[in-house]
Amino acid sequence: MRYCHAKAFIWNSQALIEYGKIYVGNTGEPFALTVGGKTLYILTTPEHVAKLYKSNEDTSWDAMLNELLVGFGVKSSVIHKLWEPMPGETIRKGRPELPASKIPNYSLIHSTLDLYKRQLLPGPRFEKFCGTLLGHIDDHLKWSTLIGIDTTQSGRPQKVFSHRSLRDLCSTVLIGAISKTLFGDQIYEIEPYLSTYLADFNQDAWMLVFQYPGPKTKLGAARTKILSALENIIRGAGGPEANHAWIVRTVMEEQDAAGISEEDAAALLLMIYWAANLNPYRLGFWMLSYILFDKELHTALKTEIGRAYRDRKLDVAFLLTDCPKLDAVYQETLRLTSGALSARKIIRPLDIGGKLLEPPSTILISFAQLQQSKSAFGVDASTFDSRRFLKDKNLKNSLSFKPFGGGANYCPGRFVAKQEMFFFVATIITKFDISLSDGGQQNFPILDSITPSLGINGPQAGMDIFVDLKLAN
Ligand code: HEM
Repeated sequence: MRYCHAKAFIWNSQALIEYGKIYVGNTGEPFALTVGGKTLYILTTPEHVAKLYKSNEDTSWDAMLNELLVGFGVKSSVIHKLWEPMPGETIRKGRPELPASKIPNYSLIHSTLDLYKRQLLPGPRFEKFCGTLLGHIDDHLKWSTLIGIDTTQSGRPQKVFSHRSLRDLCSTVLIGAISKTLFGDQIYEIEPYLSTYLADFNQDAWMLVFQYPGPKTKLGAARTKILSALENIIRGAGGPEANHAWIVRTVMEEQDAAGISEEDAAALLLMIYWAANLNPYRLGFWMLSYILFDKELHTALKTEIGRAYRDRKLDVAFLLTDCPKLDAVYQETLRLTSGALSARKIIRPLDIGGKLLEPPSTILISFAQLQQSKSAFGVDASTFDSRRFLKDKNLKNSLSFKPFGGGANYCPGRFVAKQEMFFFVATIITKFDISLSDGGQQNFPILDSITPSLGINGPQAGMDIFVDLKLAN
């Protein structure tokens, strides 16, 4: 199956993948699409994906990064600098915990990926990051802050926060909290509309990944605004007291040592910022949507989460380990809403499922194909079941359930994401009486499974739900 599929891919990538699967007789074997003159091999079978995740020698994400970095704003003339080995002293400075004999020979890019892990995987730096992040979510969800978001009745204390867009609520709180955790509160003094620009950027960022020279979108303007804010941070806005996360501080020091210009350094920081923001606000939207449209589930969760309060504060450890209903909603939402197409360049011929996949083609893993597979999840695999992961405790370990990817690029933010989402959803449904506006007469939003996706899909354009909130007794 090899002819030009560019239009069909951009128009509806999942439908094209479904068509390809049927074309090869539903055997699950890898098949090829030709998009923009390039061959894309599509994997839809869990065993093939597992093999790919182990094939670090034959496939590479690095080979895709250069094009992406240019899309994010790094000048092509400096790309080679990012791959040059850095002086051992610079690498050591960011990793005081490593003995001198264990200092790796990293380039700036590989060092940055390593620093992600050192910040985000469990340990003291992770604890600090999560503590700051949850603190910001809590601040954003203070009644006074929520009323502050609503300018229509400013000056008068409101009892009900009515007909609020759930999309806006999730992006304001979650993008706001991550942005402040990474760059300190000053970032919103530098760019008050940062969250809006980030959401605009995210909407069309797939065009950078798939190099789609599409119509003029908000992407370019949003990128300029975000890069300008990040350049300000690099130039020292906020002064020595600026409360940057450890990863931001350390990456900036290494960029400086590598002699990267402020402009290029801002584009590199955008990668960190974007990775952290791509998914959580959309996942929060879907989790709350499923909960609000199911009164029984909503009530059961309030009771379960109520037990996690100690002295009027949420006990996060209890929330994470002793709230199985919330956990099942989290897993099921991750399963159904991730439409990511994860890409790897083939650098050496690779046998998958008896088929030789050749360089310099690209392999795409379709998360939706894996996570909505009937053989793994049953005949109702495409519908939401809040009890699915409660009924079968082994589902989390299924080869078909990989919401955070795997192999060399396994999401290092998965532990942060769990705390962030549990805390956000738990706070909203216990601190507030939250309900659908208009007496619940609203349609459940439809997942946008048409636009090529890099993570959790948003709702279709123009779709939203509206909620009324008041402080719970
Ligand atoms: C709901 C939340 C999230 C989901 C579903 C998610 C999903 C993913 C997936 C599927 C990948 C692998 C992509 C690939 O292999 O092509 C990934 C990578 C990554 N994620 Fe997440 N993520 C989430 C939250 C986060 C958070 C909160 C952070 C940071 C604070 C983060 C940081 C990263 C980074 C840095 C990578 C790249 C890792 C590498 O290439 O080595 N993620 N994420």
